[in-house]
Amino acid sequence: MKSARGLALAALIWASLPAARLHAETPSVAEDYVLHCSACHGRDGSGSPGLVPSLLELAPLLSDPRARAYLASVPGVAQAPLSDRRIARLLNWVLDEYANTRVTPPYSAGEVGELRASPLRDPLAFRASLVLEGAALGAPD
Ligand code: HEC
Repeated sequence: MKSARGLALAALIWASLPAARLHAETPSVAEDYVLHCSACHGRDGSGSPGLVPSLLELAPLLSDPRARAYLASVPGVAQAPLSDRRIARLLNWVLDEYANTRVTPPYSAGEVGELRASPLRDPLAFRASLVLEGAALGAPD
């Protein structure tokens, strides 16, 4: 009985080790994307037409000067359970990886902290005010 309990305890400790290791290290930016963004935007960033915007089409938006703030203020970004530094890293990575573009200077933790402090109440209405011809949110190709 005693040794069975000991064995169970050892199994428990063993089972928790990989999780403990995971938490000890900061996940890579790609892991952050998979864990916090891909459920809605897809592993390939293409989103879901009419529901979730594609991250492949961010470049045209950035011609509107308000888009920089918008990208860090949408609820999925502003409310993600990640530090300002990891959100900044993630946004810069998403722009490069999926939209083949960038913002200059890149997002910083300080900027993200300010922007996410006031997440957009009505992102779709704000997005519509940004929209450039032919870039309507979720418009089918
Ligand atoms: C629960 C689903 C969901 C999650 C999770 C999510 N998003 Fe979104 N995202 C949306 C929706 C829906 C929109 C459209 C605006 C709105 O309604 O919030 C959007 C808009 C965006 C936009 C603006 C794109 C545009 O064309 O307007 C960016 C950039 C973005 N998300 C990035 C991210 C990143 C990075 C993450 C991970 C930290 C993330 N999102 C997590 C659903 C999600």
